[in-house]
Amino acid sequence: MCGIVGYVGTENTAPILLDGLRRLEYRGYDSAGVAIQSGGEIALARAVGKLRNLERALEANPIRGTTGIGHTRWATHGRPSEVNAHPHLSGPVAVVHNGIIENHLALRARLVERGAKVVSDTDTELVAHLIHEKLREGHGGLEDAVRRALRELHGAYALAVMSRDEPGRIIVAKASSPLVLGLADDATYCGSDIPALLPYTRRMVFLEDGDLAVLERGTARITRLDGTPVERPSKEIDWSPVMAEKAGFKHFMLKEIHEQPRAIEDTLRGRLDRERGDIHGHEIGLSEDDARSIRRVFLLACGTSHHAAMTGRYYLESIARVPTTVELASEFRGRDPVIGEGDLVIAVSQSGETLDTLVAAREAKERGAKVLAIANVIGSAIPRMSDAAFYTHAGPEIGVASTKCFTTQLANLLMFSIWLGRRRGTLGDADARALVEQLARLPILMKDVVGGTRQLVMNVAKRYRDARDVLFLGRGLNFPMALEGALKLKEVSYVHAEGYAAGEMKHGPIALIDSAVPVFVLMPKDRWYDRTLGNLQEAKAREGQVIAIATEGDESAHAVSEDVIEIPLVHEALAPFLTVLPLQLYAYYVADLKGTDVDQPRNLAKTVTVE
Ligand code: F6R
Repeated sequence: MCGIVGYVGTENTAPILLDGLRRLEYRGYDSAGVAIQSGGEIALARAVGKLRNLERALEANPIRGTTGIGHTRWATHGRPSEVNAHPHLSGPVAVVHNGIIENHLALRARLVERGAKVVSDTDTELVAHLIHEKLREGHGGLEDAVRRALRELHGAYALAVMSRDEPGRIIVAKASSPLVLGLADDATYCGSDIPALLPYTRRMVFLEDGDLAVLERGTARITRLDGTPVERPSKEIDWSPVMAEKAGFKHFMLKEIHEQPRAIEDTLRGRLDRERGDIHGHEIGLSEDDARSIRRVFLLACGTSHHAAMTGRYYLESIARVPTTVELASEFRGRDPVIGEGDLVIAVSQSGETLDTLVAAREAKERGAKVLAIANVIGSAIPRMSDAAFYTHAGPEIGVASTKCFTTQLANLLMFSIWLGRRRGTLGDADARALVEQLARLPILMKDVVGGTRQLVMNVAKRYRDARDVLFLGRGLNFPMALEGALKLKEVSYVHAEGYAAGEMKHGPIALIDSAVPVFVLMPKDRWYDRTLGNLQEAKAREGQVIAIATEGDESAHAVSEDVIEIPLVHEALAPFLTVLPLQLYAYYVADLKGTDVDQPRNLAKTVTVE
């Protein structure tokens, strides 16, 4: 969704704001703008479309100054246009905002009645007018005006506000939308996401809901909305700026697909106890007693993370024998679910900020369930509200389509299931050792599969790039991979694709198959193999173009498929880590051949902080 950056320091701010916004591009946006304190005024530049347009506007009319705020907007109220782009001005006040002000209609009516000249369709402009009004009424300056304005706002916001009359100062505030501060000796930064600030500082402070901070050069004074001072400890972020760059790959998505062996290695590091066949579970935040007494597990997630959660259910049920439900967070929340003490919620979210997952987990916690977060962004909202956080270490994922975060989520879910299975006595020594050993080998296997299948997948993509519909079939652990293959293809190449449980084919979707439909069949050697092979033959009999993702040396797959993409023989729990790789590559290559905006597909945003 939208991105915010802010800078107070000694350098010329426009290039810093543009650079920060560029690093937030992956979140998705349709217009952008900056406001800079310059020569006793606030100068504004805004443009519709890509950041290049804003850059051109700034080249044509440069703005110099050492304090400024910038924004990339993903339209919610009002279409993408220059007038709707942030920052919004009212008198001396400039505002950028992420989130949604729920009482905007009533606010607009009140402000207009009192004489405000509202020029855009946005809720954010109303915030600027409201702060301006408070500034005129009060004597406490901008900080006091923001504080009083916020009392009248309902909804979600991350705000950055400046006044022409208070040079070298930015006020920021947060409720439900992410906001992080970056501290350096001679400058203070703010941003809606870590990558925006990474080249400048690794010392970051995560604000909590209801915090307001006054940023000046090199300092940040944080208070609650009522003015009570609070300390928020700073954290050193170990992501390097280079991790957020393309490193010679054409797109972030391709780079991140190739990075998966490294991401898995980082995620496993220090957690595997190979000697005992166990997992070091200190981060999991559950006692041995808790582990034994958990009644049920609820996995809550959205989109790709939901597919990881679906796989997690297989792990939890087969390894830890604990009854497990997987829920789309957007459907769980507000449904009045039967959940409470003794239940464990695992909220799976790469960003840690997805609003539906956050609200669903919060509702479960209020009813007495324990909440464990699996997230990739340290200090993000979901881990903060959870009882414990079991982080993935994928590094920053910039491509909007999740790849490396997905496989690291699988790794954490598998590790958690092993840990739980050991404590509940459902996973014996030998099985546990075998699983842990295979997990340790996973990075090498993944590297081989990415490297070994790349060319073949590219050829398959060339052949089927114009297919109108594509089917993905899988059973058991590979059913969620079929869904994931279809989602990846849809979101980056805009090709219609469906993922199905292979056994469901004859209950309807088989009617879709003809010689124009490529059908990917995920059929590693596992307990579902024979039945999946049967489904492959059914697809073939209807002239479907079958591409099998099968275990090396599978003669039956070769006999009936147009193409076979081979993966090594592994424990069935590990197969999804490998079968999904060619599917990610296929989605990428089709998208690249079609020339879509692979890293920022249309209409999508990386972090979905609206409902
Ligand atoms: C698809 C994708 C999305 C996210 C979903 C949840 O490639 O990335 O479907 O998985 O928006 O996001 P997180 O994991 O941040 O909660």
